[in-house]
Amino acid sequence: MFHETPKYRNSNFEPLKTPLPTPSEILTPPASPSEDNLHLDGHPTLDRPLFVQFCSNSPTDLLTSARYVAPFCDAVDLNLGCPQGIAKRGKYGAFLQEDWALIRNLISTLHANLSIPVTAKIRILDTKERTLEYAKMVLNAGASIITVHGRQREQKGHNTGLADWTVLRYLRENLPQDTVIFANGNILQHSDVDECLRLTGADAVMSAEGNLYDPSIFAEAPPVGEEGREYWRSKDGKFGGYRMDAAFRRYMDILYKYVLQTEPPTRKALYLPSDPPSIESSADATQEGLSGAATQPPAAAESSAAESSASAATPTSQPVPSKKRKRAEMRTQRANNTQQSSKKTDERMSINLRVVQAHLFHMLRPLVAKHTHVRDALARCKAGDIDAFENVLQLTEAAVRQGLHDYEIGVDDGMPEEKKAVKKDGENGELVAGAESATVTDGEKKLQEAEADVVITTSNEAVLRCRRPWWVMQPYVRPLPEEALQKGAMTLSRKEKERLAKEEENVKETGLQPEGRVEVQTIGNGGGTVVNGEMEESTKPTVEIARDGLVSG
Ligand SMILES: Cc1cc2nc3c(=O)[nH]c(=O)nc-3n(C[C@H](O)[C@H](O)[C@H](O)COP(=O)(O)O)c2cc1C
Repeated sequence: MFHETPKYRNSNFEPLKTPLPTPSEILTPPASPSEDNLHLDGHPTLDRPLFVQFCSNSPTDLLTSARYVAPFCDAVDLNLGCPQGIAKRGKYGAFLQEDWALIRNLISTLHANLSIPVTAKIRILDTKERTLEYAKMVLNAGASIITVHGRQREQKGHNTGLADWTVLRYLRENLPQDTVIFANGNILQHSDVDECLRLTGADAVMSAEGNLYDPSIFAEAPPVGEEGREYWRSKDGKFGGYRMDAAFRRYMDILYKYVLQTEPPTRKALYLPSDPPSIESSADATQEGLSGAATQPPAAAESSAAESSASAATPTSQPVPSKKRKRAEMRTQRANNTQQSSKKTDERMSINLRVVQAHLFHMLRPLVAKHTHVRDALARCKAGDIDAFENVLQLTEAAVRQGLHDYEIGVDDGMPEEKKAVKKDGENGELVAGAESATVTDGEKKLQEAEADVVITTSNEAVLRCRRPWWVMQPYVRPLPEEALQKGAMTLSRKEKERLAKEEENVKETGLQPEGRVEVQTIGNGGGTVVNGEMEESTKPTVEIARDGLVSG
């Protein structure tokens, strides 16, 4: 697909402002592209080292595609980890696991013919011994680095569960010392990075979901007293996190600067409860006439922002609908908008613009769960409509202002209900593992328990460890399969069922699943049945592609 379809290629990989040259157009050794023409992917000053990953089951296709990207990156990676239906149907990703001869051929073809190194990302197999054999085969075929996702192919969706770091440790201990291993799985927050490196002995850590929900996952927390306006720390100093409004601003500024290549708007300082009323802060930018927390409660400010955003969609002359009807109307409208927007999305539009909405839904998850007007405004944003995203940013800033203000005056701690419930269980004498004061770290416990063959039966510990007030970025903790099963065995309350249905609906609308939305496209010219010199439509070779960049897994 990548080497056959220029539109697909140019909208998914953008190292230059001009279309990607074909391998034959690229001189050997590659001539350096002019500074002016360098764009985003693999930019020498912004984006190196860069590995470009492909899914493939054809050594020649893979090599042809890899040659397009080789001049602009440092390595080409083979995806042997994708467990999704699309990979099963296309026979790639983790569904090559049984075909070691093909994997060997794919990797060795790149190793022998590509100007840059080849690497591979694998999943663990059913035993550690078999995984070791598999890793050795991949390395012997020519992979310079292996990234090992500590889950088996079946561990996806409700069955995702925990990654098994003991297998990673076993690989470290049994592969040659100089093997470069990247560990993947169970990285929920910053402290997990060092813990994973320490416990697995890996050379680096790779994070996907954790990074999606909290783009500050690799950033250190600032020292106490030096939080500035971007970092928030609790009054007792025990926990903190980067603020959503701060991250959202940075996100938008990156889009302006690098994707749209224009100056970001000048913004007022982010709100701090300690600001004297004379300081113009972000809340003033969104709330005309608001003269400070002491004179007007932020709740009122927020509702006026919500109203102005809602009024754009709801005609004022309409009678006030019942809550239920309003919800149904919102759902229909969101569905229509999403359908329209995905139809209207220009496929040549930069992938960096096409994924913004889905990405923000991840990042703002706890905030939009509470402030549904922000969720609705975000759901209405069409790809590439930067003004609509600016509006969501302003609503976010106003919501964060309210949260910080309420926390400061002691009205609300911003914690989600589940966390309070978990805490309560612990207070009642039930053992709650991994509480903040625990001396044995979670990772150590996971290793100890896995080694002792004890099944971890709760994700409460992770919830407790990771949950922050809704105005700071935080990971999403999935229930473990045992818990999902347990939940299935229980009768869910109507409210809980509605909540799950709504989540499911949001996930579908925005393509948030790892496999994203799937679309079938016709490719190339060969392979079909030719009648009267024309290829019959129904027999043209097709390929399934994951829409909007949220691919594989
Ligand atoms: C939205 C999304 C897209 C992903 N796309 C890919 C991909 O293209 N290639 C790949 O090897 N893994 C992909 N993955 C899987 C991750 O690389 C990773 O193996 C998995 O999510 C476990 O790591 P984590 O716990 O850090 O998320 C994707 C995961 C998510 C959530």
